[in-house]
Amino acid sequence: METKVARLTEENLDHVILEEAGQVIKEGGLVVFPTETVYGLGANALDEEAVKKIFLAKGRPQDNPLIIHVADFDIEKYVKEIPAAAKEIINKFWPGPITLILEKKDIIPGVTSANLSTVGVRMPSNKVALELIKASNTPIAAPSANISGRPSPTDLESCIEDLNGKVEYILGGNESEVGIESTIVDCTSEPLCILRPGGITLEMLKEIDKDVYIDPSVCSKPKEDFKPKAPGMKYRHYAPKAPVKIFKGEIKKTIAKINEMMLNYIENEKKVGIIATDETMEKYNGGLVKTLGSRDSLNDVAKHLFRVLRSFDSEDVDVIFCEAFDETGVGLAIMNRLNKSAGFDIIEIK
Ligand code: TXA
Ligand code: MG
Repeated sequence: METKVARLTEENLDHVILEEAGQVIKEGGLVVFPTETVYGLGANALDEEAVKKIFLAKGRPQDNPLIIHVADFDIEKYVKEIPAAAKEIINKFWPGPITLILEKKDIIPGVTSANLSTVGVRMPSNKVALELIKASNTPIAAPSANISGRPSPTDLESCIEDLNGKVEYILGGNESEVGIESTIVDCTSEPLCILRPGGITLEMLKEIDKDVYIDPSVCSKPKEDFKPKAPGMKYRHYAPKAPVKIFKGEIKKTIAKINEMMLNYIENEKKVGIIATDETMEKYNGGLVKTLGSRDSLNDVAKHLFRVLRSFDSEDVDVIFCEAFDETGVGLAIMNRLNKSAGFDIIEIK
C-alpha cells in the first residue's frame, strides 16, 4: 500500500488534508495522527473490518482492547453509565491525557473492546487529533502507532519507520507534548483504580477520589497466569532491541555501580548504552550516554523517554543501563514504562 505522509501541526492545520484523512477513516482505512501523549494508529471505532486492520498493521494480540477517541463530550451514545467520579474527571481533565474505562453500549463492536463489557474513552487535546475526529464524524479507535512491543512513537519519523506501507495516511510533525501514553482509570470500580499511570497523576486524581488506588500490575512483574484488568499490561512493552537494566538507589551510588558494571562489559568487548540525565551524564567513564533531560523536570524526562529508548536501536549497543526516578507525580508513569521496557530487570543498590 502507498502511504501518504502529510506534515501538519497544530499551528498549521490544513483542512483539505484533514478532510481527506477523515474520508479515509469513513471508508474503513487507517490514519496515523498526533496526540499530546503519543502518536495513534486510527480507524473507525464502530467499523469492525476497519478495526481488524489496526491489529494486523501493528501485529497486536486480539485480546488487547483499544481506546476510542472522541471530540464531543456527549459520550452517552457509547457508554451505559457515567458515574459521578467519571463526570468530574471529564470536567477537570478533558480534553487531555486521561482515558476512562466505562461500561460500553452494543454500538461498540467486540473487536474494538476485545469482547470486554467495558471500553476506554478519551478526548485528546491535540488539535490535529480533534479536527481529524470531527472530519471523520465517528469515534476513532487508536492504539499507539508502533509495531507491537516497540516503544510508542512520539514523532513523525518513528511512525514512518514502523508503519510506512501499512496505512493510508500518516499525519503530524511536532514531537508529542506529554511523551507517554494517557493515564487509564477504571471508572467502573469504586474507589477509582489506575490501570496505567500517565500525565494525569495519582496525586491529581486523589482530589476527585481520595481512595483512588493503583492496580498491582503497574508496579510489579506479572505472574505467568496473571490476568491484569488492562489486558495490554501483561505484554512486554516499550522494549528496545538491547536488554535494559534499571539501577535503583541513591544517585551517586547508582553512577558508581553503573561505572563498575560497565567495566566488565567493556572488557568483554560489549557496547554499553547509558540512559542518564543532564545532572549525571558527564559522570560516566565510557559507554554511549544519552540524557532524558533534567531531573528537575520529570515532565521533560517523560517527553523524551520513548525517543531515547528507540534511538538505541540504531546504535548497536549490547545492553542499556538506565538510572531510576522517584515514583512520585509523573515519576510513577516514567518508572512503569522503564520497568516494563526492562522486563523488570532492576538492580537495587544498597
Ligand atoms: O495515550 C494513549 O492512550 C494512546 C494515544 C494514541 O491515545 N493510546 C494508547 O493505546 O496508548 P494502546 O492501545 O497502546 O494502549 C491501550 C491500553 C492497553 O494496555 C489496553 O489493554 C488498555 O489500554 N485498555 C483498553 N481498553 C480497556 C478496557 N476496556 N479495560 C481495561 N483496559 C483497557
Ligand atoms: Mg501501545
